[in-house]
Amino acid sequence: MTLPVFVDVDTGVDDAMALMYLFASSDADVVGIASTAGNVPVEQVCANNLGLLELCGLDIPVSKGAEQPITAPLRTAEDTHGPEGMGYAQLPATDRELTAHDAADAWIRAAHAHPGELVAIAVGPLTNLALALRREPALPKLLRRLVIMGGAFDYRGNTTPVAEWNISVDPEAAAEVFAGWGAAWGLEPPRHLPIVLGLNLTENIAMTPALLSRLATAAESSTTPMSVLDDRGTRSNASNPLIAVLEDAMRFYFEFHFDQNEGYLAHLHDPLAAAVVLDPDLVTCRPTTVDVELTGTLTRGMTIADWSNRWGREPNALIGVDVDPKAFFDRFIARVGAFAKKLG
Ligand code: RIB
Ligand code: CA
Repeated sequence: MTLPVFVDVDTGVDDAMALMYLFASSDADVVGIASTAGNVPVEQVCANNLGLLELCGLDIPVSKGAEQPITAPLRTAEDTHGPEGMGYAQLPATDRELTAHDAADAWIRAAHAHPGELVAIAVGPLTNLALALRREPALPKLLRRLVIMGGAFDYRGNTTPVAEWNISVDPEAAAEVFAGWGAAWGLEPPRHLPIVLGLNLTENIAMTPALLSRLATAAESSTTPMSVLDDRGTRSNASNPLIAVLEDAMRFYFEFHFDQNEGYLAHLHDPLAAAVVLDPDLVTCRPTTVDVELTGTLTRGMTIADWSNRWGREPNALIGVDVDPKAFFDRFIARVGAFAKKLG
């Protein structure tokens, strides 16, 4: 069965790989892409999304989101994703244009066009999802499934000691989404709660040079296995254009993780969300109530899961707590490899 899919990204390297996974999936029909400021400014996110569509030969509406988070000043992460958000990769020029409506309206239009059927991922700051929820409070009832990549549950942060990037950039938006999603249902069943994949789960999904070589082989592309000993910024010589872009993007991401003392690897946070939105059985989840610290001097942006129901509130999220990385990578390599081969 093909699912209509809406994607909200702050394209960055792993966002791009999440998009490629969905483009490569025959059970996904990507009906819209919302560009959210985060890893890089929103104009650059838009350019990356349009450039990826040019690279993949696809026509999907791309909408521009807010320039800034709801209240916080924008922070970006060029140190992690590269000056333009795609590592060392260069995307092709394109004359593709953005929609006239903004990203929040794109969420609402997609939900109304596919009522009860639309599945969605939000893998950047939740700014535009929160704005969409303000404009259309019934949005949760219109979606079949929502997967959020964000937060860190009983786990350290990657932006502050306790906060994960997507939540940390716009904590107010995240708090509104977690509060609004549960409230939309009141107490009537079924409550379609968002699946929330935090760093505690997504950091189990580690791309390595060996796995990247497997992907090139699946695409029948030439490649040179990467190594931490390579000169920084060495460009891919892969024969396949999509593999070459992925290798150049990943090398920057490998180098960043290495410099963070995490090894010459890269956590594929957003591609896991893309795989889960098509097949939730890939992860084990536990229902709980989630909220976001907004005023803590040291803890602003921290996500808290009330596992013991101390707050006495209805659950508003399904927290991912277990995943089989091999199952994910087998599927990722099979799908993206075959897709790249067709483009070669
Ligand atoms: O913390 C990881 C998340 O922040 C990922 O979505 C990455 O792309 C960045 O947006
Ligand atoms: Ca992201």
